[in-house]
Amino acid sequence: MTYTRALTALEHRFGSQLSRAQADRLAHGRDEGGHTPMAPDAILNAHSTEDVADAVRICALDRMPVIAFGAGTSLEGQVCATHGGLCIDLSAMNRIITLNETDQDVRVEPGVTRQALNAYLRDKGLFFPVDPGSECTLGGMAATRASGTNAVRYGTMREQVLSLQVVTASGEVVETGTRARKSAAGLDLTHLFIGSEGTLGIITGLSLRLHGIPEKLAAGVCRFPDLKSATDTVMSTIQMGLPVSRIELLDELSVRAVNTHTGTQHLEAPTLFLEFGGTASGVDEQIATFTDLALACGGAHIEFANNQEDINRMWHARHQLYYATRAMAPGKQVVTTDVCVPISRLGDCMLETRADVEASPIIATMLGHVGDGNFHTIMLADPESDTEMSAMARLNERMVRRALDMGGTCTGEHGIGLGKRTFLEWEKGPAVALMRHIKTALDPHGIMNPGKMLPD
Ligand code: LAC
Ligand code: ZN
Repeated sequence: MTYTRALTALEHRFGSQLSRAQADRLAHGRDEGGHTPMAPDAILNAHSTEDVADAVRICALDRMPVIAFGAGTSLEGQVCATHGGLCIDLSAMNRIITLNETDQDVRVEPGVTRQALNAYLRDKGLFFPVDPGSECTLGGMAATRASGTNAVRYGTMREQVLSLQVVTASGEVVETGTRARKSAAGLDLTHLFIGSEGTLGIITGLSLRLHGIPEKLAAGVCRFPDLKSATDTVMSTIQMGLPVSRIELLDELSVRAVNTHTGTQHLEAPTLFLEFGGTASGVDEQIATFTDLALACGGAHIEFANNQEDINRMWHARHQLYYATRAMAPGKQVVTTDVCVPISRLGDCMLETRADVEASPIIATMLGHVGDGNFHTIMLADPESDTEMSAMARLNERMVRRALDMGGTCTGEHGIGLGKRTFLEWEKGPAVALMRHIKTALDPHGIMNPGKMLPD
């Protein structure tokens, strides 16, 4: 497909906002995962909702695919242009439009990053909690229903979005909700678009919930002799209802990777990274309760800090883990798996997965947002080795099967994209047909991010 008519019309309408430069096309055809890059035909540097709506209308006439792009930090190939088309880069739509301090909500454009929003909010005593680790845009985070380390306390993007402005596949602009904290008005379109990965429409505005920065924060580490004692501790912590704001598990190899990559000197053992927030006395009490639980399960070397610098350093190291694992073997292909199971099955699922990895030729770190029952193995394989590549694929498949058998899901937070379309079918069965009906109703010509999410 060449989309000559649409490209001419786009050039005419957008002038220098449209790029067809090779370097731009390559940079926009890939994300941070291991999927083969696929370049779009052109990139629109969008400045407004009107730009997006006009572009979609032009593309719709020529049935040219439209792919939304934020920061390109997805991991399952969500932005790869499988059928070419127009990539709409929303990163320049980065204005914070209205802050309602009393109501604790904010209206933003989709290209605002979570870091930029938090920098803006810092002196107002408010923050936005969803924290997938990468430098990513709020529009992209809503489109992929992102989560990360704080979800155990604050929930995922699903819980934070009050309303979305969306450009539909026909180029209409709709608002899905209001600033009200709850609503029983009709179908829940807000949540239909959250996690739709650009396959139903393009998010051009978001109203988001904010939260008060707790009076006191404390973060710390706790080491364990093995994975099981760590997951037992996580289960007791959650069952007891301790309001942890983060509880992250790193296996021994993960700790080594982080130490090497970021220069930290953590003891190389299965480790929980934790954070508690609340009133000063509340936090002290939570730490004391957690310490009792952890010691009873075999935890040791428990250390907590409450100065912000130490806390930041610790979370920075944690957030480098994906990059740290990649750096262990440059040139190897990386696959991040991402299952989520009911908390009572977390230990079994992680231990069986660890044994499976050990019986294979694959090197992998294991880590997780374990308070939610969500974990990853980040696997490395030599792309030149059929043995390693197929072993990696089999490990991923078995991990998903195991999670589904335990009542879990094939992805807790990375989404389906290109990489998990078969797994979506395994998980949802006939419900995939219902998703297809919705897709066809909203995007009859299949121009919105084609080739993603739904199996062919
Ligand atoms: C993380 C990414 C891989 O948790 O989701 O580091
Ligand atoms: Zn993660």
